[in-house]
Parts: sequence; structure tokens; C-alpha cells
Amino acid sequence: MANAFHLDDLVANLRTAATSDAPRENVKALLEQAVADAADMQATMPEFADNDVILHEDETVSIWHCRFMPGQTVPAHDHQMLATIGVYSGAERNDFYEADLETGGIRKSSEVILSAGNVLQIGPSAIHAVGCASERPCLGIHVYLGALTQVERSLFDTEKGETLRFSDENYQRMTRR
Ligand SMILES: [Fe+2]
Repeated sequence: MANAFHLDDLVANLRTAATSDAPRENVKALLEQAVADAADMQATMPEFADNDVILHEDETVSIWHCRFMPGQTVPAHDHQMLATIGVYSGAERNDFYEADLETGGIRKSSEVILSAGNVLQIGPSAIHAVGCASERPCLGIHVYLGALTQVERSLFDTEKGETLRFSDENYQRMTRR
């Protein structure tokens, strides 16, 4: 019998993984397993109305469905907790930034393209700007080891070298479409 993907199962398994002895490894393994058969996942995933959908959040884990439309880039930001990204359709561009000691701002340090089937784990202090690197929308599951909406975090204006408080308003204003 085909081993069809079910989003509810993934969310339940990620919640269990987040409270396990090895959350980092177990969350990564679950996402790797899910996106390994990206076609199966695409076939059974619901179509969401919004680009960002919070599938679950509690003290231990936040699970988001993230869609990036072609040409869209969200501003550089941090998470203040471990983040694991799994892409199942299209491709996601991650531009990473690090502190620039000369200017006191941040500067781009590397770039990673995640295609369908790829998983990337980034540390709590990592700063990235994320966009769509494909002609079709990029679809993925982003998992954070904590309550993402409850923490103080930052947005970065990479052109002006400014750090801003993370707020929906600033995020929307700085998103390029
Ligand atoms: Fe992010």
C-alpha cells in the first residue's frame, strides 16, 4: 500500500519530536522524511489562502507552512530559536547575513538555494532573508523549537544598516513583491 503523506501526522510527529531527548535531530529527520517524496507531499497538501500559516504553536514548537510567491522576498530576520526548513515545491533562496564589525550593521555572508526535497537547519542567532527562487511558488514547512510569536526578535534593513523590532507592520512594509 502507498505510504501517503498526511499533514496532520507530520504536525503530530513534530510535536512529539520537539519534546524528545534529541529535538534537533528528530525534527530534522521528520522533515527530511516528509520532503524526500516531494511529489507525494504536493499531491496531498491542502492549498492555503495565506502565504504564512501557523499550523501549530506551543511553548516547545512552532510549525508554519510558508509560501513564497515568484519575485517575493521577505526582509532579513532572526528567530531566537533553532529553525528547520523543509521545501516540497519550487525553490527557496536563503541569503544569510552576519555582523559587520566595520559598519556596525550586517553584511551578506552566504546564499543557499533549497529545492524540493531539501532540508536546512539554522541556529538561533542566524539571520536570513528568504525569497522564491523558482518560477512557481515555493512551498515549505518551517519548524521552530519554541513559541515563535512570543519572542522578541529583529528585522534588518540591509540597505540602511538598521535593526528594527520584529512586527507584522515592519515585516509587511519591508517585504518585496
Ligand atoms: Fe526565517
